[in-house]
Amino acid sequence: MKAAEFFRKYDNTSAAPWSGFANYVAKENELYLAVGELYGDVVRPLRPVSIYKEELTRRIHAPGVRTYLETGVSTGESLMICKDLDLAIGIDPAPNVPPDVFDKAPFRLERKPSDTFFRETFEAGTPDFALDLAFIDGLHVFEYALRDFIGVEALAAPGCEVLVHDVLPRRAAEAARHRFTRPWTGDVWRVPMVLRRFRPDLKVRLIESAPTGLAVITGLDPANTVLMERYDEVVAHGLGLSVMEFMALRDAHVAAV
Ligand SMILES: C[S@@+](CC[C@H](N)C(=O)[O-])C[C@H]1O[C@@H](n2cnc3c(N)ncnc32)[C@H](O)[C@@H]1O
Repeated sequence: MKAAEFFRKYDNTSAAPWSGFANYVAKENELYLAVGELYGDVVRPLRPVSIYKEELTRRIHAPGVRTYLETGVSTGESLMICKDLDLAIGIDPAPNVPPDVFDKAPFRLERKPSDTFFRETFEAGTPDFALDLAFIDGLHVFEYALRDFIGVEALAAPGCEVLVHDVLPRRAAEAARHRFTRPWTGDVWRVPMVLRRFRPDLKVRLIESAPTGLAVITGLDPANTVLMERYDEVVAHGLGLSVMEFMALRDAHVAAV
């Protein structure tokens, strides 16, 4: 399956649940208790070895990194670190950035869901750029973050590194698929788990980076279509993983290389 075909099929995010979260947050306390009860609210603080923005900054400034893509721009804090690169693509359907700052080179701010960006990019033919580094920090729901990885890998330059944010929730409630807590990782933790299973050729490391962990993925192969071909199976497997089990084994997952 070609990337254009894949994203044509899965770019159906117009009704995605990123709107309305403010309402959930307002009810946080009440709902948090309900979710805590449901999941047993296991609380396991990280033992942070770094802060995620430090990890990101170091990689953006690494020699050879000229082209960057980020899903989830929000205020543009992380995108701004890329001001000296050749190209810094930021994708967000509702960015909260200051006017004008990101409307000039090297920035390319795409005000749309990442699925739409990838569909349009692949439908247009061979892109005129390849990525040295990507940061996945958009919608914190497993399938969305997985598709972000699939899109990024298809655009990867040799040696490309991908960081996925929010892969180490500190409590089960924080990892719920719908947002009930203010710091919210969602179930992005499933992404590195399915990559380790379905793409053993990739190197997937988990770093206890504050506040909620990073996955660092290398060994990308833009010609590999396993995740697109087996997408439904990969998603079914990921959704079948238990958050309680993941929380219980989190140290082992971090230690595994
Ligand atoms: C956690 S914030 C990103 C923070 C930013 N990367 C930083 O470190 O400063 C998540 C952002 O993802 C955006 N988002 C939600 N759904 C998205 C989607 N389908 N594609 C891309 N971004 C999305 C939200 O609008 C929000 O601004």
